[in-house]
Amino acid sequence: MSNKLTPKKKEIYIIYPQAQISWLNSGEPFSEQFQDFYFSTDGGYQETEYVFLKPNQFPERFYLQHNSSSAATISIGETGFGTGLNFLVTLYYWLQIPTAKHTVHFISTEKYPFTKIQLQKVYQTFSSHWPQLTELCELLLSFYPDVFNNKRTFTCQFAHDNFKLTLLTGDACEQLNILAASKTVIFDAWYLDGFAPSKNADMWSQKLFNVIYKLSKTGTTLSSFTAAGFVRRGLIESGFRIKKIPGLGKKREILTGFYPLNIA
Ligand SMILES: C[S@@+](CC[C@H](N)C(=O)[O-])C[C@H]1O[C@@H](n2cnc3c(N)ncnc32)[C@H](O)[C@@H]1O
Repeated sequence: MSNKLTPKKKEIYIIYPQAQISWLNSGEPFSEQFQDFYFSTDGGYQETEYVFLKPNQFPERFYLQHNSSSAATISIGETGFGTGLNFLVTLYYWLQIPTAKHTVHFISTEKYPFTKIQLQKVYQTFSSHWPQLTELCELLLSFYPDVFNNKRTFTCQFAHDNFKLTLLTGDACEQLNILAASKTVIFDAWYLDGFAPSKNADMWSQKLFNVIYKLSKTGTTLSSFTAAGFVRRGLIESGFRIKKIPGLGKKREILTGFYPLNIA
């Protein structure tokens, strides 16, 4: 067959479903898929600190690791990347350490990623409320893909390769099961952030809690914005020790927990 007649191999790209967003006048994105907010400009940064960093003992753990003699990787897992606010605040704290010997790998899952254009708009809001994040927002945008195609992961590295972000696009439970099967990572801390359970049951299923436990080890910590009873019971059922602690502002309670020492 001549070259002219050889059929060309078609490249098939699956375009991922993206976040369906409407915008408040304040610049806050609202999820049309889940009818819920990603963050609040009235205290979103503090909420991230209080709900996710503090219960997981960040930034203290970064310093402890820094002072230890061995270089190590701290792996942080998150169930919903959204705008990346939790990621950016964590990176901001990590950058305050003078010279980090260790590395941090932040691995997040996202079923409906923001487009780059949507994220640019969100980051204007971040910059006006939390100017300390401006430079990091620009940095993340410089790596962020224009479109999510059939690549399952998006990875980028910050600060001399010491802080790595991997975004797994797709359903959290599916993606974490693939990760568990690969046996490439065990997490030190988890941020469970998947909208209210009443609006998004998939992010609070027993199957998801079980794979999160499977990807953890003695001493792994976790926290979650929701304190719903079935979430607390489900996490306990998977093997974690869980307790409620007071929430911030209008939020009455949140959940924190850890993977206990297994004494046979
Ligand atoms: C409350 S928002 C997360 C906010 C985020 N951590 C931040 O810093 O902006 C919940 C996120 O979970 C994502 N999500 C919802 N269902 C999902 C699923 N089954 N798997 C993975 N991500 C999901 C949503 O698209 C949304 O971005």
